[in-house]
Amino acid sequence: MENDSSTKHVVLVTGGTGLVGKGIKYVVENGEKRENESWVFLSSKDADLTDYESTKAVFAKHKPTHVIHLAAKVGGLYGNLRANLEFFRQNMTINDNVLQNAYQNGAQKVVSCLSTCIFPDKTSYPINETMLHKGPPHDSNYGYSYAKRMIDVMNRGYSQDCDCKYTSVIPCNIFGPHDNYNIEDGHVLPGLMHKIYKAKLEGKPLTVWGTGKPLRQFIYSRDLARLMIWTLREYNEPEPIILSVGEEDEISIRNAAEKVAKAMNFTKELIFDTEKADGQYKKTADNSKLRKYLPDFKFTPIDVALKETCDWFVDNYEIARK
Ligand SMILES: NC(=O)c1ccc[n+]([C@@H]2O[C@H](COP(=O)([O-])OP(=O)(O)OC[C@H]3O[C@@H](n4cnc5c(N)ncnc54)[C@H](OP(=O)(O)O)[C@@H]3O)[C@@H](O)[C@H]2O)c1
Repeated sequence: MENDSSTKHVVLVTGGTGLVGKGIKYVVENGEKRENESWVFLSSKDADLTDYESTKAVFAKHKPTHVIHLAAKVGGLYGNLRANLEFFRQNMTINDNVLQNAYQNGAQKVVSCLSTCIFPDKTSYPINETMLHKGPPHDSNYGYSYAKRMIDVMNRGYSQDCDCKYTSVIPCNIFGPHDNYNIEDGHVLPGLMHKIYKAKLEGKPLTVWGTGKPLRQFIYSRDLARLMIWTLREYNEPEPIILSVGEEDEISIRNAAEKVAKAMNFTKELIFDTEKADGQYKKTADNSKLRKYLPDFKFTPIDVALKETCDWFVDNYEIARK
């Protein structure tokens, strides 16, 4: 997105009320907004993006020049295991509706959001952008994964056939304020935060699902927001780019649970329920493509980001999604 102040840019963010959308809104409102830009953050109340007519109406209303496409049916391991077909169908429909309406309204650039959990299950590590389609995803979330992979197929088509700059980013596990803190359906960190909140109230130990051994890379939503805005403005390849902390920042679920416990001043025991599924053991992502473009980007230290997130959750417990 060239910074020509005479050209008016309308940036439409689908999924603008979710974890990543709120992160982008925060960063935009805290210094990233340019004079010639107006930003529109959509929720499902503005348009049901699984519905073609509703999507068409909201794009016709705002006529975006740029789109950050975040809206998706998202869930943790256990949510996905229960509903792979629904994850596939809803995400396929949302993505097709959004890209087609962006194109029909003349949007120059679309950045959509994939995820490291859609990479092949059987692969070598670290995973890089070229390996996206080289083998089936993990069985637990195949519906979500295949739907997300099709965004890359569509980006190739829109770039080749329609001369559009449609691309995607591949974040690792994201956390931050405004996450889904539901214990059954949420992701690991917000789930742990909620469980610790309850364990503290009840004076009980914390039960972590699984062995605690799987390894994960976690990115703070506000760091991801800064990187996605950079992608929108500066990154011009149709192929995806991994937005993740480095391999050296990968930590075990046990270590993550200990860090959340520390951030929430939780002093009781951590118990690991090994009857519960672990999911993928690891999905280590290689961020060297990102580092080639942005060698000096500074990620917020995880302990600082976790403290900010836990404080937000405790302060906003009544309104938090749970
Ligand atoms: N969270 C992670 O760890 C993670 C990791 C990698 C990639 N991602 C990707 O990052 C993107 C954002 O994820 P997130 O964690 O921010 O998700 P989220 O917190 O669950 O938010 C989802 C957003 O999508 C909107 N939405 C869902 N269904 C919709 C529909 N049918 N029509 C219109 N809007 C709809 C929601 O609107 P309402 O608020 O109105 O419901 C909300 O704004 C997704 O594409 C996800 O796949 C997430």
